[in-house]
Amino acid sequence: MLFKKTEVQQVSNVMMNMLHEEEIEIVNNFHDAVVAKDIDKIDELFKVLIYDVEDHFSTEEDMMEESQFYAAAIHKAEHDSMRKKVQAIEAAWNTNKDPKEVQNFLESDFKSWMVLHVARWDSETAMHLGDSI
Ligand SMILES: [Fe+2]
Ligand SMILES: [Fe+2]
Repeated sequence: MLFKKTEVQQVSNVMMNMLHEEEIEIVNNFHDAVVAKDIDKIDELFKVLIYDVEDHFSTEEDMMEESQFYAAAIHKAEHDSMRKKVQAIEAAWNTNKDPKEVQNFLESDFKSWMVLHVARWDSETAMHLGDSI
């Protein structure tokens, strides 16, 4: 398990909390496979993770656009930097099939990014959105 549910804070928008809960579950399953060094399962769940990350980010970006959130561009830039990192680690995985490399990424980069990103950008965006969407 990479995340306990309480490690990612709740924000003031129901949809965003749902996206985060879903992502935590998917990342935790993926992390289990990585720790177990189950190559086939990692291959399978990597696709699920990438699909989910894109769904999470693009849903937030759509909501920001619809509500004309003043810091939408900065928030999206934060997503874009993680999109690039996820793509890079997937490319590395496809080349090296090294679970340790993926594990390091999840436990250092991804985990701290997610906790800080939700606390900083998602919580502020959620206050702007409220529960109107
Ligand atoms: Fe988010
Ligand atoms: Fe976000």
